[in-house]
Amino acid sequence: MRRRGAGPAASPAANLNQAPFMWTSRAQTRIFNQNRFKLGLFGMNCSGGLSLTKAPERWDASWEHNVQAAQMADAAGLEFLLPIGRWHGYKGETDTQGTTFETLTWACGLLASTREITAFGTLHVAFVNPVFAAKQIVTADHIGQGRFGLNIVSGWNPLEFGSMGIDLRDHDQRYAYSAGWLEVARKIWTHTEPFDHDGTFFHLKGVLGKPKPWWGSHPIIVSAGNSSTGKDFASEHADCLFTTIPSLEAIGPKLREFRALSPQGVRKNMFASCHLMVRPTTKEARDYHHYIVHEMGDWEAADYAEKLRGARISAQFDKDMSLKERLITGAGFPIIAGYDEAVEIMTKLADAGVDGLACGMINYIEDFKHIRDGLLPRMERAGLRQKR
Ligand SMILES: Cc1cc2nc3c(=O)[nH]c(=O)nc-3n(C[C@H](O)[C@H](O)[C@H](O)COP(=O)(O)O)c2cc1C
Repeated sequence: MRRRGAGPAASPAANLNQAPFMWTSRAQTRIFNQNRFKLGLFGMNCSGGLSLTKAPERWDASWEHNVQAAQMADAAGLEFLLPIGRWHGYKGETDTQGTTFETLTWACGLLASTREITAFGTLHVAFVNPVFAAKQIVTADHIGQGRFGLNIVSGWNPLEFGSMGIDLRDHDQRYAYSAGWLEVARKIWTHTEPFDHDGTFFHLKGVLGKPKPWWGSHPIIVSAGNSSTGKDFASEHADCLFTTIPSLEAIGPKLREFRALSPQGVRKNMFASCHLMVRPTTKEARDYHHYIVHEMGDWEAADYAEKLRGARISAQFDKDMSLKERLITGAGFPIIAGYDEAVEIMTKLADAGVDGLACGMINYIEDFKHIRDGLLPRMERAGLRQKR
């Protein structure tokens, strides 16, 4: 019997990962392209995505669905896929994010199933030994031929740390630990001879990692801190930042402050998270939002999420919706708009210095069609993205 996927009659996925065109360095991969406003899918490794809704079309995060959404995004020219590292769900009837794929192995599978899009792994560094993880990261990077990116998470959720049997350090110590962890990983990616490491958090003997990352340069490192320590960490250690949008007015000053922290001449991509509910008209989008939140919202999960996250996140947002409505809608800045209005909002964000959005949505396959067919052509006409 033929082994599945073996030989010339293998599935199309087997041919996807041929050498990607003329790229000769990481800087030429799609995530560094000239598009003024880049786009990625955010959170599709999690059941329910980022929304606390009972709507039957909510995201079923099966592997098959993940591959389909990733391939649609890759074919449409999107720049990245950003998963959520999550070890506990939001309870209620739906238990959003209660079922999740581990993100590093998720990225490996998707990199092997796509051609040009970058896939991130979102790593709680406190949960993984850096010598082990540095090799996993290199493996992912080779699978994607330089398209793997690392989202470093220092952690915030005591329940997740409890389930790992690890103490959640004091806030600034978490970032110090991440810096120490990253120092080890970077050494492994660059040192060609065995080395000893004697740092604050790690005492290691005779460390050597081969192979080195694809093209010899380190995978893109991103960080998603909002506090001043988080911003300092990102400025010093990350190639790009993911952040939250407090409001259209407040994001510009926030990003200017971050840019001022970056070393001179280093232009970092600064992405923000959003939740996209776009439809041909704004009325249709708002009606859909009403249905998702007020007819189908999982308010029990919203109660739970508010208790768990409310104190941490409520200060970050304008109060145009109650916190519970906001949590049900989805993590990230809500863009509930017709196609034209959504592109106007994106233009304002681009003018404020946002380089792109990591987009949550209710269903990453069905809603993606609105992005591909409704938003992308308008974004091209508005000069936010180059014509494909
Ligand atoms: C776009 C984005 C993605 C994030 N993804 C995760 C994640 O997957 N898992 C997680 O535990 N925290 C995640 N976070 C939380 C951050 O890692 C960080 O803990 C949070 O922003 C608080 O940082 P601060 O204490 O420096 O303000 C994310 C934050 C943002 C803005």
